[in-house]
Amino acid sequence: MVDVDAALDASGLTNEAVREYVKHWAQITQPDRIEVIGAEDDDRLIQECLESGEFQPAGEGRYYSRSYSKDTARSEERTIVATNDEKDKGVYNNWRPASEMKEKLTELMRGQSKGKTMYVLPYLMSPRKNELSQWAAGVELTDSRPVVLHMMRMSRVGVEHVNDLPQQGNFVRAVHVTGDLENLGQGTPDDKRYFVTVADERMILHFGSSYGGNALLGKIAHGLRQGAYDGWDTKKFLAEQYMLIGITDKETGKRYHITGGFPSASGKTNLAMMLPPDAMGDRYQVDFYGDDIAWLWVDESTGKLMGMNPEFGVFGVAKDTNEKTNPTALHSMDPGTKVIFTNVAYNPKLEDVWWEGRTPEPPADLDGWLDWKGEPIADREPGDTSPWAHPNSRFTTTLANVPNAAEDFDEAAGVPIDAIIFGGRTRDREPLIRAIHDVAEGVYDGLTLGAEATFAAEGVEGQLRYDPMSNRPFMAYGEGDYARHYLDLLAQVKDKPLFAHVNWFQKDPEDGHYVWPGFRENLRPLLWLMRLKDGEVTGRKTAVGIIPTEDELDLEGLDLPQADLDRILSIDVPRWQQEMGFREEHLNQFDRLPEEIWEAHRRVTKALDEQS
Ligand code: GDP
Ligand code: PGA
Ligand code: MN
Repeated sequence: MVDVDAALDASGLTNEAVREYVKHWAQITQPDRIEVIGAEDDDRLIQECLESGEFQPAGEGRYYSRSYSKDTARSEERTIVATNDEKDKGVYNNWRPASEMKEKLTELMRGQSKGKTMYVLPYLMSPRKNELSQWAAGVELTDSRPVVLHMMRMSRVGVEHVNDLPQQGNFVRAVHVTGDLENLGQGTPDDKRYFVTVADERMILHFGSSYGGNALLGKIAHGLRQGAYDGWDTKKFLAEQYMLIGITDKETGKRYHITGGFPSASGKTNLAMMLPPDAMGDRYQVDFYGDDIAWLWVDESTGKLMGMNPEFGVFGVAKDTNEKTNPTALHSMDPGTKVIFTNVAYNPKLEDVWWEGRTPEPPADLDGWLDWKGEPIADREPGDTSPWAHPNSRFTTTLANVPNAAEDFDEAAGVPIDAIIFGGRTRDREPLIRAIHDVAEGVYDGLTLGAEATFAAEGVEGQLRYDPMSNRPFMAYGEGDYARHYLDLLAQVKDKPLFAHVNWFQKDPEDGHYVWPGFRENLRPLLWLMRLKDGEVTGRKTAVGIIPTEDELDLEGLDLPQADLDRILSIDVPRWQQEMGFREEHLNQFDRLPEEIWEAHRRVTKALDEQS
């Protein structure tokens, strides 16, 4: 048995509860070595990964890694929220009893780190000394060095985050064991992977993957599932899959903060890294706070809704990122940023990377290029059009590398929230933007957020895959209780945030083109929303919210065909009436759904009937 005390003493980790926890799990997983990690270990661990082949050089201060080919995405079916109370069972959280899951995972993990190092990573999922920091501390134990390097980018790490805890035992116990990836039956009926959050014991047990979304336990399991459970349990906060931005109007000096949820791959990162359209000059500035997670609470002295990003980095989708779509993201991976690329295409001779959409055409000279599985592109059969990079290939970089990172992103205070927006990929029905003043209607709108089922999925034409508040994969407890908590928290807010629903993805039914150019132009509807909040515009009232009139929307320098403009600024009442039926079925699944939400549903239904 490895000498745990010696390793912990050498690192200065003094928290007794953490020391007990490390000993407990070292006895189960049986590593050969133990190492406590702090920010100062980054260069050394990178060097070790380069020597072991876990990383390869991808240009000055940039690194390339490849994951096992069956381990490239989050697995929702294998993800479970366990508690000691069946009342926590919801529609989406795959609830299981805590005792059953703890026993199962302990057995799966037993002896699995033999021959390996157990890295002990104390982390904090918040800026230091933030209002919510007491729920943000955790210690991840992992037997994967690349996972350590990813976590060091995505969270603040070091023993100081647990040594100074007011209550020594108040940290999330997050155990990650990789397992024998080649023998886990990923995606088969005999799948051995388990990703479990034992929410009421503040424990996370993940076995069988070293891919980011399954293995960076601070980010998704703690930042979203555990955070959501703690926020509800204490009645103090919300943990949401939201982006968070600041918008400054330099002409008036006004500054706004907007947060909001779009389902995965619906544009959060792109919005958070947005540059204002060229045609708008330098009047506006968009500041990045976060692109994936926001924790929200009410400041007791001012009554304001506050928000912060618990993460310290970006785990972004590489596909389609280029100079035109997202120059900010590209610069966050510049030489010297110590970015880690995962599962993109790689060229060891050039020490370079490529992904679909990086440039319009792939590199013409195939010499040296390897696809994400490591197969030479030059050896491909003619006609093989499979992508070079995995569609879910990623870049991992710290917030400080993001060119439009807000100056105060790391400050304790957080920022006051002016608006909460929801948006999905909807090809029809949803206008460019509709604003909602009423809080219950706003929460109702979030609960009925969805993304279109793809052509491959079963389901009714025009029916959404509902994704409440974009949290479906991260729901920690029952949806009705979640709605109640959301309403109760907002009831304490004095200056209520304005809600809105946005849609960048409406299509022309004839030729299928996107009728709104999107990306940088998305600033325009958000500016309208802030003017509406300030009472400078009034918009046009519809059954489903207030939408901009054509002349209220700043379209300077944007050449939109009138037909497209009409389409994004109108409401298709019959389609909406059909949607209301789907929504009713969706909401009916939830236990204890607050009456206010049903009232909002009936109000919107009635208003639509009156408008038709
Ligand atoms: P996230 O997973 O929610 O952070 O989504 P991303 O920002 O990574 O975007 C997912 C995909 O949507 C990428 O392929 C983007 O290029 C695309 N996308 C993002 N914003 C827009 C937009 O405004 N219009 C269109 N047409 N596509 C967008
Ligand atoms: P995302 O989550 O899909 O929302 O970006 C990260 C992941 O898949 O690991
Ligand atoms: Mn996400």
